Amino acid sequence: MLSIMDGGGGGARSRRKARMLQFATLVFAVFLVFLGEFVVGQSSTYVRPPKAPAKSDAVEKHLQERKSLTASTDPDQMHISLAGPGQMKVTWVTSSAVPATVQYGTTSGHYTNIASGVTKQYSFVLYESDLIHDVILGPLNPSTTYFYKCGGFGAEFNFTTPPPSGPNVPIKFAVVGDLGQTDWTATTLEHLAGYDYDVLLFPGDLSYADTWQPLWDSFGQMMSPYANYRPWMVTEGNHEIEDVPLLVESFLSYNTRWEMPYNESGSTSNLYYSFEVAGVHILMLGSYADFDTNSAQFEWLQADLEKVDRTKTPWLIALLHAPWYNSNSAHQGEGDAMMEAMESTLYAAKVDIMFAGHVHAYERAERAYLKKPDPCGILYITIGDGGNREGLAGTWLDPQPVWSVFRESSFGHGELEIVNATHAYWSWNRNQDHIPVMADDVWITSLSAAQSGCTSKSTTGAIQSQNVDDSNWEL
Ligand SMILES: [Fe+2]
Repeated sequence: MLSIMDGGGGGARSRRKARMLQFATLVFAVFLVFLGEFVVGQSSTYVRPPKAPAKSDAVEKHLQERKSLTASTDPDQMHISLAGPGQMKVTWVTSSAVPATVQYGTTSGHYTNIASGVTKQYSFVLYESDLIHDVILGPLNPSTTYFYKCGGFGAEFNFTTPPPSGPNVPIKFAVVGDLGQTDWTATTLEHLAGYDYDVLLFPGDLSYADTWQPLWDSFGQMMSPYANYRPWMVTEGNHEIEDVPLLVESFLSYNTRWEMPYNESGSTSNLYYSFEVAGVHILMLGSYADFDTNSAQFEWLQADLEKVDRTKTPWLIALLHAPWYNSNSAHQGEGDAMMEAMESTLYAAKVDIMFAGHVHAYERAERAYLKKPDPCGILYITIGDGGNREGLAGTWLDPQPVWSVFRESSFGHGELEIVNATHAYWSWNRNQDHIPVMADDVWITSLSAAQSGCTSKSTTGAIQSQNVDDSNWEL
């Protein structure tokens, strides 16, 4: 207890002090109320949505479905991929022998066609794979739903073919990299399923099996419900290498399970190839194949670019794994050697967009060339944020390079909508709990469009108005 001793006239001073003390107490009380109102007790209006389903739920669901199958001849680990003009490849796995055939037609339960393919199997040290079947269907009509049954066993599935070829044909791509098979992966897959895309583009690092082969099987099972009805087009990442010196050659599992249409594009390696769909020519480059100017990949790239006709495919897009433009501290400089070998060639060809993975984050650059913003350069996007077990890459270089527009360390996926011959809309959607939230977007003008100011006789032709070609969509 505070005691105030006072002399003559001290009563008046004491009363003044008491009033000042009361006033100070009042001011302090009001301050506390404001503090409580505006700082301590602030109530956010944000309500956290239900927890996203875990990977174990998704895998368990599929495994339960698998258990409910009546025979080991039923299809498992399914995915489909574009396989040439008007063709679709169906890949599936069985543990017992079945014919490598697919029955298909445009009416459920009524199969007017049957196609035959091949069955593959591989050994990886002590692991023996199940039977992997590849069957190419076609010719198929564009934008058409086909119902199909694998090997004559199991349930019926269906897929829808992409739109027809033509420079002004709209098409939607989903883009995701470094998926793995975690809770985060499950969320990304659910978000992808909510986007009505035509083709999925995947710049590498699929299963993260890293030589433990059963993880390729669980990855195949986890992807199957998403990859058996829309084509997935992939290129390799470092986690696909899996070489065991003297015992297992590099990329054995990847090349066997995810064989892409490299023959169809004149490539001799599954590690790099190209394909065309709607009005887009897509280069699937290999960060882990030789890429110097004397390499087979470089020779193939030059020949492939010679075949590109921007009046038919006004959009030119490239994918690879190790990014050339990366301001994350992870994997700094790993794409530099390939960039030095190839950037000038791709710049001259007026590549519109390059997607990379590897860095577990999202970053969008300006159009750039030689690490400087350039309105006629490539628009570089890193999207290695599918949700793998290694987690996010959260450290960024400071200061942010002049070419870097937006960067964020979150899991998510991308959506690229080609609207017509000249314009496309890109958005990146972070996984915000159960909800995909669009966090970055940009309208893109093709470098083949006159309004880009980048057209030249040597690399692009004038864009002409053409009717949509209703014949088979083309590779
Ligand atoms: Fe990687």
